[in-house]
Amino acid sequence: MKKAYVKSYGCQMNAYDAGRMADVLAAEGYSATDTVEEADVVVLNTCHIREKAAEKVYSELGRLRVLKGERAESGQDTRIVVAGCVAQAEGREILSRAPAVDVVVGPQSYHRLPDLLRQSRETRVVDTEFPAEDKFDHLPARRNRGVTGFLTVQEGCDKFCAFCVVPYTRGAEVSRSVAAVVDEARRLVEGGVREITLIGQNVNAYHGDGPDGAPATLGHLMDALSAVPGLLRLRYTTSHPNDFADDLIAAHATNPLVMPYLHLPVQSGSDRILQAMNRRHTGDAYRRLIERIRNARPDIALSSDFIVGFPGETDADFAETMRLVSDIGFSAAFSFKYSPRAGTPAAEREDAVPEAVKTERLAALQDLLDRQRHAYNAASVGTLTEILVEKTGRHPGQVAGKTPHLQAVQFDAPASTIGTVVPVRITRAGSNSLFGEALEGAAAAA
Ligand code: SAH
Ligand code: SF4
Ligand code: F3S
Repeated sequence: MKKAYVKSYGCQMNAYDAGRMADVLAAEGYSATDTVEEADVVVLNTCHIREKAAEKVYSELGRLRVLKGERAESGQDTRIVVAGCVAQAEGREILSRAPAVDVVVGPQSYHRLPDLLRQSRETRVVDTEFPAEDKFDHLPARRNRGVTGFLTVQEGCDKFCAFCVVPYTRGAEVSRSVAAVVDEARRLVEGGVREITLIGQNVNAYHGDGPDGAPATLGHLMDALSAVPGLLRLRYTTSHPNDFADDLIAAHATNPLVMPYLHLPVQSGSDRILQAMNRRHTGDAYRRLIERIRNARPDIALSSDFIVGFPGETDADFAETMRLVSDIGFSAAFSFKYSPRAGTPAAEREDAVPEAVKTERLAALQDLLDRQRHAYNAASVGTLTEILVEKTGRHPGQVAGKTPHLQAVQFDAPASTIGTVVPVRITRAGSNSLFGEALEGAAAAA
């Protein structure tokens, strides 16, 4: 049997696509492997968001070139595919930079992978079109893995933040219909998934066709999904502050499947920088939005993304970011040094922040965010919570899962609890996960 190795970089959207590419290859008779040395097809699903992410693929391709040569000596053929956002952004250029590559395919055309692989026997191929047909209509049924699953409901972005490549690599905003999403969710749940994370670059801009033909909101979509028997939890990511409709806020209060966790990137606390980033909202508008969300769901855990060292960012601007973080209090966060990306407006600016200043600001911000995360986790000790068990834990007899607030928890319970929700008392906070004890009888009953 032929084997396929698929490796994904970048965001959840890419992770989802990688799974779907594995499905496409499985339908062609390829079984999945984690061992690249035995793969007949190697797919790198790449990310272009920051320079470091994009460079990773070329060092990987260097290694693959050697591997391909070795396999060829023993008479084995290896097809190398570059997919994802670097493929979309660089296209044909990849062929000249990386001689081992056979196929370059963008995020909107990977349903054509079998054809492209066949063509690649004659010549190296590039497909980075945004095709008129919808890839979702051409993908084989989804195979399930695990208790939690991602489900793409919206793709692309029309926001054009000044620093960001996504509108160029993923194209314009498109939403899938409620019926298509519910159908995929049903199959996932039938296959054992209990928690679905709805994903999109701008997931709360979702406006797919509803059952009556009129556009549905993300709140409507989650209501429709609540009717899927066996589904226990819903999450969604990533949201933009400007598309946060009232009914989405309401869903956090009224839909019991919607988990009390929200990843809402703000990028900066300085109004001047937010404007230069083309985010189209102020720091105070973000604060007010969070207040409204907290009124609807007081225990909501908040997470965000931050960029330090955007061109022109002064010490005073950065102090505004620190102030916003202190005001709000996050349970988790991602923070990055600004990385100029060719083709984006911010990359043209001549007032770059020196690397040493970026390093200093990132360390200060991460220190504050780490302290908030630790304080948040420490405050959970002693509480009674519900854990959706995802897998066996690090030690024998342990299982691992997540709280509604997306904290990782390990506790003693039989593996038969995987896929169920178990009431757990949190007893200790470690640096990366919490530890707890199942309520007496609760785990045994599962
Ligand atoms: N669609 C999401 C996030 C997209 S990318 C949103 O709008 O929030 C994920 C994160 O990468 C962004 O939130 C941002 O913090 C970071 N990012 C994007 N472009 C970047 C760049 N050029 N340099 C550094 N970080 C960047
Ligand atoms: Fe990028 Fe902004 Fe779109 Fe997010 S909203 S994907 S940061 S352009
Ligand atoms: Fe990266 Fe593309 Fe996602 S650039 S962050 S893989 S949308």
